[in-house]
Amino acid sequence: MPQKLSAQILDALPWLDGPAEAVQKVLMPLLGANGHKDVKNMLKGRKLSAQILDALPWLDGPAETVQKALAPYLGAEGRKDVQDILNGTWFGHPLHPAIVMLPLGFWTTTMVLDLAGPEEAADLSLRLGVVGALAAAATGAAQWQDTWGKARRLGFLHASLNLSAAGIYTGSWMLRAQGARKTGVLLSSLGYGVGLFSAWLGGDLSYDLGIGVNRTAFAEPPSDWTEVLNESDLAENTPRRVVANGVPIMLLRRGGEIFAIAATCSHLGGPLDEGQLADETVTCPWHGSVFSLRDGTVLHGPATMPQPDFDVRVQGGRIAVRARAQ
Ligand code: FES
Repeated sequence: MPQKLSAQILDALPWLDGPAEAVQKVLMPLLGANGHKDVKNMLKGRKLSAQILDALPWLDGPAETVQKALAPYLGAEGRKDVQDILNGTWFGHPLHPAIVMLPLGFWTTTMVLDLAGPEEAADLSLRLGVVGALAAAATGAAQWQDTWGKARRLGFLHASLNLSAAGIYTGSWMLRAQGARKTGVLLSSLGYGVGLFSAWLGGDLSYDLGIGVNRTAFAEPPSDWTEVLNESDLAENTPRRVVANGVPIMLLRRGGEIFAIAATCSHLGGPLDEGQLADETVTCPWHGSVFSLRDGTVLHGPATMPQPDFDVRVQGGRIAVRARAQ
């Protein structure tokens, strides 16, 4: 499995531990175990998003309708190359969280320039934010398409608010163009509030509900050889799910070789050992991500992160695996 850029940077910058520890110590009196409870509770926040979800179960209906409408484009039958671009498979990272910086950044600039800056620059920034919002909507829809339950409902609310913010900003754009500047600025301020609230809900989608999170991130594959199966129990072309150090692993014997990659799909946790095999790839049965059996690389999304892969050896009729050295 090729090493991710972030992992390479971490390896190259071990000295960061020192300043990071120093900052943690500075924050300790405020945010540590004995920190100020009121401040910590305020920063952690009571989960308003959970209350909203409970109060709006009817969102499931329209959310499902929109998913069905988008399915020909963003579902299993849609164009994989377009989906890979929107999901960020080429990027090795979900694209949506990066793209949302465009509207939020431009609209923050609009607000600052509205307070103290040239009107033309403020209006240009507003228009660029509207364009950025369209890109954010496309990448967000791709990521949301495979969600269900609470994540689907919260994602639908998040998207609705984002589109509302974009609509409000478009209204402000029109008003500014017609010379009604004060009303336009008021309207864009309202749009900014809606956009910020929506961004907060988007954060809950990731941090609370795990959307966009690598589902293998917390696996700790064994670094030493660990026996998992009798060699005689692994038939040709028939995947087997085994467990090493608590990590589910998919084993596959093919043409005299044994492949081993994590069995839990990095996208949303689908069982790869139940996936479809072709050449040296496996396709996740849940949403169709395609991974290389040889090194866990993502060949097609919606997954954006590779599968952990393993060295395999056979000794005394027993198959053993260990985490592949980078
Ligand atoms: S769980 Fe979504 S592609 Fe595997």
